Formats: sequence, structure tokens, C-alpha cells
Amino acid sequence: MNIAVFASGSGSNLQQIIDRQKSGELPVKISLFVGNNSKAPCFERAQEAAIPTLHISQSHFKTEEIYTEKLLTALKDAAVELIILAGYMKMLPPALIAAYPFKIINVHPALLPSFGGEGMYGIHVHRAVKEHGCRISGITIHFVDEEYDRGAIIHQESVPVFETDSAEDIAERVLNCEHNIYWQVIKAIAQKSIYVKNGRVCGIFKR
Ligand code: GRF
Repeated sequence: MNIAVFASGSGSNLQQIIDRQKSGELPVKISLFVGNNSKAPCFERAQEAAIPTLHISQSHFKTEEIYTEKLLTALKDAAVELIILAGYMKMLPPALIAAYPFKIINVHPALLPSFGGEGMYGIHVHRAVKEHGCRISGITIHFVDEEYDRGAIIHQESVPVFETDSAEDIAERVLNCEHNIYWQVIKAIAQKSIYVKNGRVCGIFKR
């Protein structure tokens, strides 16, 4: 399966995907990396792994249509079958989402539908989890639709939250969980053990 990874920041999830692919544990080809910030570490990680990269931002284009067309052409040229969002901070254009139904996935650093939506990213999520006194947090891997963090849930995994945890402690535990799990879910999709039937996510996720 040809995949594209979209990222904006540190790219530690991208690195996991690269490493698991290289070790032969993840049977995919990363045929494209898309980033909106060429100075971000994720860009360097992609280049170091010799993945074709596309630096693109809507601000480079006169209209959203031209921007979307450019993105769609790049995805088509790379024969991308599954798009992985790994800390991508830009909203995808609706026409792109419509062109890849149930073929775009994201990892969110909390248990959706709690602690999702606009403004719920990075440390803001973990601060909110702490402020609410949650005993657990976790990760949600979901399909992407036109609204932030709303698409069909593929897999969730919880982590404990301790009384003495800072938001940073929670963030670290959650990120570790993402590193352990995200690539395995991608593998399950590539191997068709997770699939979509009548708009519902079916199948088993086996470690
Ligand atoms: C992760 O916490 C993920 O949940 C969120 O963005 C962050 C990306 O981290 N979507 P990294 O760039 O992969 O290190």
C-alpha cells in the first residue's frame, strides 16, 4: 500500500512509521511526505529517509481550488492509497477529504469525543485533561472528515493519569502510546484486517 504522511512539527510519529517500514514490520511504501513548514524537524526526517517531499501551504496559492488541485495531483502522481496525518496542523481542503473517503486517518492525543475540536491540540489537550481531574487519557485513531476530530473512530488506547502528573507528564505518556500503536493500526489497514463497510469501521486490531 502506498501511503502519504502529512506533518507539521517534530515528526516523532513520522519517524516511527519510517523506522517500522525500514525494519520490515510495516508493509507500506511511504511514497510522499507533505508538510506546510519546511523548517520543521519532520521535513528533515522525511528527507533523511529519502521520501519524496512536497512543501505546500495554501498561502502559496491565489485560490483554494489551485492549492487543492496541486495537492490532489501530487497524491495521484505518487499513487497514494492512504493518507496519514501525523501532527498536521492545517485543515485539509474539503475537496481533498471528499476525494479520499475513509482513506485519511489521524491520531488525536486524547480519548475522543472528549478533548477534541478546535483549539484542542498539543499541550492544551493535556492541560484540559488535568484540569478535569481525569483518571485516564489516551489516544484516538480515527478517519478524517470535514470537521475536526469527528470522523469514525478506528482504535482507542488508554493511559493512566496520576494525581501528581503535570500536563507534560501526561503528554509524554500519551505520545509514547502513539508511537507504540499508530504504526500497528496503519499495518492493520494495509493488511485489510481493519476495513470500512457501510460507513462503519469493522475488523480486529491485533498486536
Ligand atoms: C501528536 O501528539 C499527535 O497526537 C498530534 O500531533 C502530535 C504529533 O507529534 N496529532 P509528532 O510531530 O509526531 O512528534
